[in-house]
Amino acid sequence: MKSVIAQFQLKGAPISCDRYGNGHINETYLLRTDAPHDYILQKVNRHVFPDIPSLMRNIERVTAYLWQQTPDPRRVLTLVPTLDSGMYYTDPDGEIWRVYEFVTDSLCLDRPENERDLQQSGLAFGTFQNQLAAFPVQTLTEIIPHFHDTPARYEQLKEAIRLDRAGRVKEAGPEIEAYLACEKYAGCLMDLLKKGELPQRVTHNDTKLNNVLLDAATRTPLCVIDLDTVMPGLAANDFGDSIRFGAATGREDEQDLSKVGMSLPLFEAYARGFLTACGKRLTPLEKETLPMGALLMTLECGSRFLTDYFNGDVYFHNARPGQNLQRARTHIRMVRDMEEKLGQMQKIIEAIA
Ligand SMILES: Nc1ncnc2c1ncn2[C@@H]1O[C@H](COP(=O)(O)OP(=O)(O)O)[C@@H](O)[C@H]1O
Ligand SMILES: [Mg+2]
Repeated sequence: MKSVIAQFQLKGAPISCDRYGNGHINETYLLRTDAPHDYILQKVNRHVFPDIPSLMRNIERVTAYLWQQTPDPRRVLTLVPTLDSGMYYTDPDGEIWRVYEFVTDSLCLDRPENERDLQQSGLAFGTFQNQLAAFPVQTLTEIIPHFHDTPARYEQLKEAIRLDRAGRVKEAGPEIEAYLACEKYAGCLMDLLKKGELPQRVTHNDTKLNNVLLDAATRTPLCVIDLDTVMPGLAANDFGDSIRFGAATGREDEQDLSKVGMSLPLFEAYARGFLTACGKRLTPLEKETLPMGALLMTLECGSRFLTDYFNGDVYFHNARPGQNLQRARTHIRMVRDMEEKLGQMQKIIEAIA
């Protein structure tokens, strides 16, 4: 580890380096120094992200752009260069390392404790969207191609049903029927994008609350972190994925489906934060498609759980047997609930905007 740390332009001498935070993708360490200046050291997961040069270039360009608008190390994730002015270091084993400035006096929540926390996360991702509204999005690399290509996800589901690798298809007749009945939604936003009616935006693609740093004193947003999946996409998809888990009334794999749905007050809290920050930047059609983004992201994620169930649980971690199937059930239940609430979600958006 010492030889890795020595590759970066640090302000003080390192005194400790310990595992930090609750991230699931990268290996994160808090690197303390004898100067009043600490760092986050990360080993980037090169199995999840095969194209590291493009990924790091995306992050470098987006953070440099944000820095021009807000030159404050607590409000922008800031990369620390290597001795030869690179943005990451490749060690002799081929592992990839990078260093960020540590954001001091910050708080990172795994789940919202109340509506206000959710509103603050909406504000954080809305601010990110607002600050990057004029960024030349075409110059970013699509780090995971077809990430939110819902029709392609449906093709994968149908292929998994056809192959029936784990012999589970016979146990999931009602779920298959429910998901296929919703296939009509799969392409609706992508069609608008293809027709040029929706713009491409800089999207984050992992808009969870624990990818926002809040000020520990005021619990208001400082900055958005975890920029590995920043790429061109639709504003409604980032918004929708936040609603999928942020406004859910039940756990992701809740057994009692009567507890599962989408909470309108939680939807409103997130939407209020998000639109306060970027409402003026979004086109009228983009705002109109936000509720559909929530439905689509829930549908897409649920179809991926079902696909993985049929493939034998090879992608998502399952703590107990059948968890993927249960997740698929909660997600289609939420989709049905959102279908019924589309009109109400629309009214909330209009009232805020
Ligand atoms: N610049 C930073 N300042 C303070 N804490 C950070 C910083 N970057 C990351 N963290 C902490 O480390 C955790 C993991 O980082 P993250 O980049 O989200 O990794 P992962 O991709 O594994 O989720 C975050 O949830 C946060 O608690
Ligand atoms: Mg993270």
